[in-house]
Amino acid sequence: MYLFQQASSLGRTLQAARQNQLTLGFVPTMGALHEGHLDLIRAAKKHYNRVICSIFVNPTQFNDPADLAKYPRTIEKDLEALACSGADYVYFPEVSDVYPPNSSPETYQFGALESVLEGAHRPGHFEGVGMVVARLLRITEPHGLFLGEKDYQQCMVLKSLLKQMQWDTKVQLHICPTRRESNGLAMSSRNQRLSAAGKRHAALLFEIMNSCKDRYQEFSPDQLSDWAIHSLEAQGNIRVEYFSFADATHLQAVQNWNESASVRVLVAAWVEDVRLIDNALLF
Ligand code: PAF
Repeated sequence: MYLFQQASSLGRTLQAARQNQLTLGFVPTMGALHEGHLDLIRAAKKHYNRVICSIFVNPTQFNDPADLAKYPRTIEKDLEALACSGADYVYFPEVSDVYPPNSSPETYQFGALESVLEGAHRPGHFEGVGMVVARLLRITEPHGLFLGEKDYQQCMVLKSLLKQMQWDTKVQLHICPTRRESNGLAMSSRNQRLSAAGKRHAALLFEIMNSCKDRYQEFSPDQLSDWAIHSLEAQGNIRVEYFSFADATHLQAVQNWNESASVRVLVAAWVEDVRLIDNALLF
């Protein structure tokens, strides 16, 4: 496994690999890796000859400086896990390598997609995600991009990014299923900040999303969302930021189930002082 802190040397190495007809899969991360990330590395390894992983806690996607400061950083452990999972190249740059001083990074707009759910609650978040992923894609020029479905809205935003960059035919987008703990809690780097009790409480998010699959035909989306929020908050361990039913493609909330051919349930909630998100396919 080769380590790079500079885009210029990584870029040269990858260009040589491409010239040798090697295909490249890319997994962008912010580190604090868990089995969900390692699933992406393993999936990339199955599809492509070489796998690149980036570890970069991107400041432009944090609208809350306290959240950025608290984001877990575990680089030594991450490098070990990546070596065991089959990553070939790791890029873990300083901020100045991704955003060189006096350069103006490309920005992208995602329209209605960024005005709902995470976009509405974290203004500027997806602009920052788009900015960094566009930069990382230009450095790595991969054949495949691997993302986790846990960040479903991010997947839709980055699908739009590939289209806007006109790279949608050049880069294959692979969206991999959410990896869960045995109690259903979606794996996330942020879970490291939960106590054992917090992890138990957080598992209710998965349970309630699943109950919605059984109940949705009896209720309207608004009624079901009220029921879900009430059920999640009843014990006083969870505070819900949103619990929404949205069209699976454009993520606009549905008022009636028949408005959309495919609906997802998406939730953001606080457990202890940790903000968690999760989602599932309803139909
Ligand atoms: O999902 C993440 O970890 C980040 O948003 C990403 C895609 C690596 C961009 O910083």
